[in-house]
Amino acid sequence: MPSLPHSDELIFFVNGRKVIERNADPEVNLLFYVRKRLRLTGTKYSCGGGGCGACTVMVSRYNSMTKTIHHYPATACLVPICSLYGAAVTTVEGVGSIKTRIHPVQERLAKCHGTQCGFCSPGMVMSIYTLLRNHPEPTPEQITKALGGNLCRCTGYRPIVESGKTFCVESTVCELKGSGKCCMDQEDGSLVSRWGKMCTKLYDEDEFQPLDPSQEPIFPPELIRMAKDPNKRRLTFQGERTTWITPATLNDLLELKANFPKAPLVMGNTELGPSIKFKNESHPVFIFPLGLPELHFVNTTGDEGQRQIPLNGPFLERSPEADLKSEEIVSSVYIPYSTQWHFVFGLRMAQRQENAFAIVNAGMSVKFEDGTNTIKKLQMFYGSVGPTTVSASQTCKQLIGRQWDDQMLSDACRWVLDEIYIPPAAEGGMVEYRRTLIISLLFKFYLKVRRGLNQMDPQKFPDIPEKFMSALEDFPIETPQGIQMFQCVDPHQPPQDPVGHPVMHQSAIKHTTGEAVYIDDMPCIDQELFLAPITSTRAHAKIISFDISEALALPGVVDVITAEDVPGDNNYQREIFYAQNEVICVGQIVGTVAADTYAHAREAAKKVKIAYEDIEPRIITIEQALEHNSFLFDEKKIEQGNVEQAFKYVDQIIEGEVHVEGQEHFYMETSSILALPKEEDKEMVLHLGTQYPTRVQEYVAAALNVPRNRIACCMKRTGGAFGGKVAKPAVLGAVSAVAANKTGRPIRFILERGDDMLITAGRHPLLGKYKIGFMNNGVIKAADVKYYVNGGCTPDESEMVVEFIVLKSENAHYIPNFRCRGRACKTNLPSNTAFRGFGFPQGTVVVEAYITAVASQCNLPPEEVKEINMYKRISKTAFKQTFNPEPLRRCWKECLEKSSFYTRKLAAEEFNKKNYWKKRGLAIVPMKFCIGIPTAYYNQAAALVHIYLDGSVLVTHGGCELGQGLYTKMIQVASHELNIPQSYIHLSETSTVTVPNGVFTSGSMGTDINGKAVQNACQTLMARLHPIIRKNPKGKWEDWIAKAFEESISLSATGYFKGYQTNMDWEKGEGNAYPYYVYGAACSEVEVDCLTGAHKLLRTDIFMDAAFSINPTLDIGQVEGAFIQGMGFYTIEELKYSPEGVLYSRSPDDYKIPTVTEIPEEFYVTLVRSQNPIAIYSSKGLGEAGMFLGSSVLFAIYDAVAAARRERGLTKTFVLSSPATPETIRMTCVDQFTDMIPRDDPSTFTPWSIRVS
Ligand SMILES: Cc1cc2nc3c(=O)[nH]c(=O)nc-3n(C[C@H](O)[C@H](O)[C@H](O)COP(=O)(O)OP(=O)(O)OC[C@H]3O[C@@H](n4cnc5c(N)ncnc54)[C@H](O)[C@@H]3O)c2cc1C
Ligand code: FES
Ligand code: FES
Repeated sequence: MPSLPHSDELIFFVNGRKVIERNADPEVNLLFYVRKRLRLTGTKYSCGGGGCGACTVMVSRYNSMTKTIHHYPATACLVPICSLYGAAVTTVEGVGSIKTRIHPVQERLAKCHGTQCGFCSPGMVMSIYTLLRNHPEPTPEQITKALGGNLCRCTGYRPIVESGKTFCVESTVCELKGSGKCCMDQEDGSLVSRWGKMCTKLYDEDEFQPLDPSQEPIFPPELIRMAKDPNKRRLTFQGERTTWITPATLNDLLELKANFPKAPLVMGNTELGPSIKFKNESHPVFIFPLGLPELHFVNTTGDEGQRQIPLNGPFLERSPEADLKSEEIVSSVYIPYSTQWHFVFGLRMAQRQENAFAIVNAGMSVKFEDGTNTIKKLQMFYGSVGPTTVSASQTCKQLIGRQWDDQMLSDACRWVLDEIYIPPAAEGGMVEYRRTLIISLLFKFYLKVRRGLNQMDPQKFPDIPEKFMSALEDFPIETPQGIQMFQCVDPHQPPQDPVGHPVMHQSAIKHTTGEAVYIDDMPCIDQELFLAPITSTRAHAKIISFDISEALALPGVVDVITAEDVPGDNNYQREIFYAQNEVICVGQIVGTVAADTYAHAREAAKKVKIAYEDIEPRIITIEQALEHNSFLFDEKKIEQGNVEQAFKYVDQIIEGEVHVEGQEHFYMETSSILALPKEEDKEMVLHLGTQYPTRVQEYVAAALNVPRNRIACCMKRTGGAFGGKVAKPAVLGAVSAVAANKTGRPIRFILERGDDMLITAGRHPLLGKYKIGFMNNGVIKAADVKYYVNGGCTPDESEMVVEFIVLKSENAHYIPNFRCRGRACKTNLPSNTAFRGFGFPQGTVVVEAYITAVASQCNLPPEEVKEINMYKRISKTAFKQTFNPEPLRRCWKECLEKSSFYTRKLAAEEFNKKNYWKKRGLAIVPMKFCIGIPTAYYNQAAALVHIYLDGSVLVTHGGCELGQGLYTKMIQVASHELNIPQSYIHLSETSTVTVPNGVFTSGSMGTDINGKAVQNACQTLMARLHPIIRKNPKGKWEDWIAKAFEESISLSATGYFKGYQTNMDWEKGEGNAYPYYVYGAACSEVEVDCLTGAHKLLRTDIFMDAAFSINPTLDIGQVEGAFIQGMGFYTIEELKYSPEGVLYSRSPDDYKIPTVTEIPEEFYVTLVRSQNPIAIYSSKGLGEAGMFLGSSVLFAIYDAVAAARRERGLTKTFVLSSPATPETIRMTCVDQFTDMIPRDDPSTFTPWSIRVS
């Protein structure tokens, strides 16, 4: 390789400040640079691969040819700093901050309640901000599009879009809401009188600062001068291992390419970057031709370049003669216009409509003899059906001269399937689906061309049947809209009292300015080390050898930590911290590397050599666990009536199975821990994102063999948790603490997204087996249901999950003879754990599935069978707890009525009659959800409230702020109880030092139990202050506090809530298991594309029993966020495992959570009022309940698919398991295309992926 000169200075601007980097390393990306070098931590790391948008920044460049400044959003994790020469970068800190002035984008995102955990918020701000810099008055479509690459796991997107829409000239959600006079707000409007006193205004648009584009920072003039410099020269940046060269001219580029033929050209780095990062691709030299004008303009001629390669089959199939030579570059791409009688279309299908790789895509072109439908030239290319793009050239050749008619199509389908063969074990799986898509997309092309021909000459070429018309178009991306309704606050309530008001999240502004501090935002600590995990690659194996010598020899590596370094218990409560001798799942932590940088730790972890010897059996699926009788715990069972007897007297019996696959939490902030060993007394402080600091303290103490009083766990906030941070942080905390203990140095352990997905696992996959006895009128008399969950390799929370499934398994239905059993299977998968809803979303889908099956057998609509079997009056559950289902009936009735269910169902039927390839479906699901835990001591809580002498109040309690707004609600409670403004009250963090032995923040109980504890502390303080206030009733709060101090009255109090007195006797199968129930109903309508399996969610109506909402905006946020998370779970989120137990899905590229384009086009949410005197201020815990309501989408899909099947003559009941992915939908919509594809005998091959439920 020719020698290279020394490094140039890299010059760019960040937030208006000039950066001169003299040692620019090409391997350093902008995200790392701004976060670690410039200490601008507002820009977040979440995936590192361009797939989530958390790291979005704005890059601005001056184009000296057009003399314009171009602003574009960029994912900083994929921007090499060397590519920024001459660019101006704006991060969220440059947009606005609390210290200076917040920007309208930040203000509105916060005030529209578009933040929960806040981890995605800086990225959201940057996407909207960049759009506004280019389009100060955007359209709603532009807003939706701008947010398409930003993932949010908390909010469900609706409020985020809404905040963006406030910048549109034509606002907004409700047509009238933008004018400030929403129809729902009218005092005397008919809706108000019908709906009672309901409000819809969650924020006040009048408070918003106007957007003034003239106030934006100017583009640095120095960069304009640099861009205009006529004497540009080649730039070279020399890193530790790589060199980056920016050529000055096209000739320079060609010279470089000749000198470094293997050096890749970096353009957007969106392909190259992930390959280097995740596939270990390495390059000693990069060439970056971004500034070259020849590569950056569009013209209408096609004669650039020295050599031309036709954009045809050989090129797309990468045949060597049609490929670029190593010294060549692409200087232009010529795209010819199509001519008359020439049709060109691109078609694609992906797991998610936006921001997803294609499952199969196709480019097709046909040219006819002029004035005829005789094929003159035909080209068909398919992507994702093989290692390269594949041309169906033989098929095309055979079809030359044929008429464009049904016979041609039929032959084309057969031939193309012969020509393009996807082997049964092909990488990526979905083989039969992909085969079907090959011909389904061809059929779409066929229809589109027929329509085109008809438009050319309607006389000669008949149009396609009217019923086929809707097959032509993909689903449009619409900007979502909707209304949120909640109780108005009593007009007599004092204005200062915030309880019942839609108060903004306490940290919302800090979220949107990037000033909210998460674990990895904490400044580096002297001597700190970074930890990288070494994980098992085998599901069940003996460790034969463990060689760390190569890893230890690498620069920066300080130590490798293993099981031998655990001073205390390495196997605590059946959870293993470091694997020893044997591994029991892929992804189990075998060791960790501690090094001076994360990059060094990661590199070293890759160099550790472990030899394994597989151990039998290797159990991956529930089926395999059942074969081997492999369970984690004993069975849990409840029973009422006489099931066997009842089966004898019913009209019909059905038996079936429902598979529900797992779910990844995909919290935006990956598991993050900072462990700080102290010099004295074996003390250690851990800062981490967790839902259960007490458990972390317990596990760390066990691992280090110290009393718990030496371990402090602090938790300020976390970027989403959803159950995933209940149990796992304890294990990861112990792993970090052992490393900190061994090295004696602070440890920063921030899991990469892929490691987090692999190690921490998620929701339990479930298999439900049912036998149901019922009468012909739909009344269910007997049910015998068995549930098995895939618990993974250690207990974690599996026992409790099974208990919850069993206890909640009747949902809203009364079945007089009912038996339900549940068991957790022990497998060689990473241990599954708590996840929002705690088994309820999996188990209850089985209930709704068998009720739907009963309806199908009785030829009745599912909603009728649901209603017939629904609890109607004060009743006892199957475990004999009394409850009143009145709010359930109300939610159900209102949902049916206000969603115009029956009218829309008729309309959907009409639509379905008129459309063969697209079908609509509607479903309504009822919900009876129980909050809390059936063990009384898990419902207790404590709080500590201090009043300082200036009157300010510091509240602490045992609950964790996960984004749900717990701290905000606690401030509301304290404000109400102490009768002081919220601004007097501060909540800093949760810590085992201030409040010991706190229980987990989950089970929807956060506000319930901590609220009571805070209330209790405040009431104690008010009782102490009472004599002083009585003596000076007109005095101010500050006066009373000063007086109290003078009178030696303690201004600090603990508060305590003993907890709901729940219990469950599993021997008897009876108990008062839950304190109360949350009821709800949701109705969803979808449209399904039967040819591709895509679906579009048209509308959702949710009625959720909130009793009295302490904070309607936070509660609506929980309901909407949970609903969208549930919808993702039941539809597009799909974890893929190899038969050997390797999780493939380890990034947003291959695990698709909903984006802004998946949410309902129309989204209506109503908080229904009821009584709940047992809970604080008669509220209800709503954190989890909405999750299950997402299944209304699953059942709406079922309804649509059933309509398609009926039309195709398939009337037999079918089971649609969860998730209803595009693959499942397509393959269930059986038709001539699914009949045509080749099928393989399962015994003849090993599939690429398997179902683990
Ligand atoms: C989140 C995310 C989502 C994505 N979604 C999709 C998707 O849905 N569909 C899809 O197809 N792709 C997708 N991609 C992949 C990627 O964005 C595209 O392939 C994109 O076109 C790559 O462009 P780039 O400029 O970033 O290429 P780079 O990564 O900069 O370069 C890619 C390759 O092209 C070569 N190259 C660049 N310019 C020239 C030239 N002038 N002459 C010769 N060789 C050259 C380089 O040497 C390099 O090998 C996605 C990527 C990410 C990160
Ligand atoms: S896109 Fe950069 S961190 Fe996800
Ligand atoms: S608020 Fe969007 S990820 Fe939490």
